[in-house]
Amino acid sequence: MAAGREHFGSSTAATLAMAGSAIGLGNIWRFPYMVGEHGGAVFIVVYLLSALLLSLPIMLSEAVIGKATHAGTFGAMERLAPGSRWKWLGLLTVVTPMIILSYYSVVGGWSLRFFGEAMARGFDAGAESFFGRFIASAWGPLVCHTLFLALTAGIVLGGVKSGIERFNKISLPLLFALMLVLMGYSLSLPGSRAGVAYLLRPDFSKLSPSLVAAAMGQSFFSLSLGVGTILTYASYMKKEDSILRTGIGTAGFDLLFALIAGFVIMPAVFAAGIQPDAGPGLIFETLPFIFAKMGAGAAWLSRAVSILFFFSIVIAALTSSISMFEVGVAYLVEERKMSRTGAVLLLFVLTWSLGALCSLSFGPLSGTRILGERIFDLCDRMTSDYLMTFGSLLFVLFAGWKMDRARVRSELGGDGRLFGVLYFLIRYVAPLAIVAIFISNLIL
Ligand code: PHE
Repeated sequence: MAAGREHFGSSTAATLAMAGSAIGLGNIWRFPYMVGEHGGAVFIVVYLLSALLLSLPIMLSEAVIGKATHAGTFGAMERLAPGSRWKWLGLLTVVTPMIILSYYSVVGGWSLRFFGEAMARGFDAGAESFFGRFIASAWGPLVCHTLFLALTAGIVLGGVKSGIERFNKISLPLLFALMLVLMGYSLSLPGSRAGVAYLLRPDFSKLSPSLVAAAMGQSFFSLSLGVGTILTYASYMKKEDSILRTGIGTAGFDLLFALIAGFVIMPAVFAAGIQPDAGPGLIFETLPFIFAKMGAGAAWLSRAVSILFFFSIVIAALTSSISMFEVGVAYLVEERKMSRTGAVLLLFVLTWSLGALCSLSFGPLSGTRILGERIFDLCDRMTSDYLMTFGSLLFVLFAGWKMDRARVRSELGGDGRLFGVLYFLIRYVAPLAIVAIFISNLIL
């Protein structure tokens, strides 16, 4: 282990940090609306399968590389394949999380604004148009983006142990507790049963190639794959900690959390008699409207629920954004010999600037199109449809074909049969499936 390099205090701390990276807007914002857009339970079935057969092996590959080298993405490639072209993978995975962070922080900022609104006033009958009006303005979203990114940077500045580890240790258990309370509320609403059925009864006639590609893409995004965050966090694990246990724990928490988020949102959506396929605006447009509508009976309760809900989103988003930020910091500190403070400041300026463009692309810059897309959508699509899948492909190829089998075996641990299955998934199934997603993203 490099001298002076920080590490997580225990394997539980490492699991919480990785689960924190995985659990985020992808679970609370993206997953429910994707379930809604793709016909409910059938999407969840495909999602679970792809998480198990595809995402888990990719995640383990990434983690093996990080833990074997105790270095960030770039350093890991240099150590395992010195002087080769693999270093470009190292660089790619420094840049990609920064692009994701730029637009992620904009959505994090929206969540902060909604949390503030819930605290200050609560949502009323005009709630549905609040979102549209807010994002179309210039300053409000920009200020919120700045605030969210500053919070992220502040936590990362604290370091791996006293910043990242401590924040995750407190916030993740809190987050689960809050979401369980919210789920209880949603399920108690009259008419929520239809939402439960929607999540549990798959309609296989809705199965299609685009659904499968979307479910796989969502499981990549949700598990933070292919962008070096898992690799970097695994590099902070101690030698004796088990990757297998941490990896399975992370994937398990992430799945559980996505399901809980589904059971918070869909029952409420159905109870209010609203269509579940509202798309990306689902939690920002539809939910405040639902809170306002439900508030007619017990205003204090619906107010409390909206406060808890948006607070949970902010926390979940932060546990993910710090993991993206840390990838760049690890690179600048370890490979460019910068101080942690200098690295944090530089990355803050870079991601703030791109994020500002993403934010303004809903307002004053809404007419600006690059490759036919709004700047925000371009950053989102470029990363989740292409860069994440590409990064994931290279990681599994690296672990499955470039690294020594015995090394992978010893880093991964577990019994021989389980290793055999996982190694097969890493070497053959995952690369083929990723290429299939890549092609379908290009043509669908
Ligand atoms: N997994 C995070 C989420 O679900 C997003 C993320 C992507 C985090 C890539 C880190 C890296 O919101």
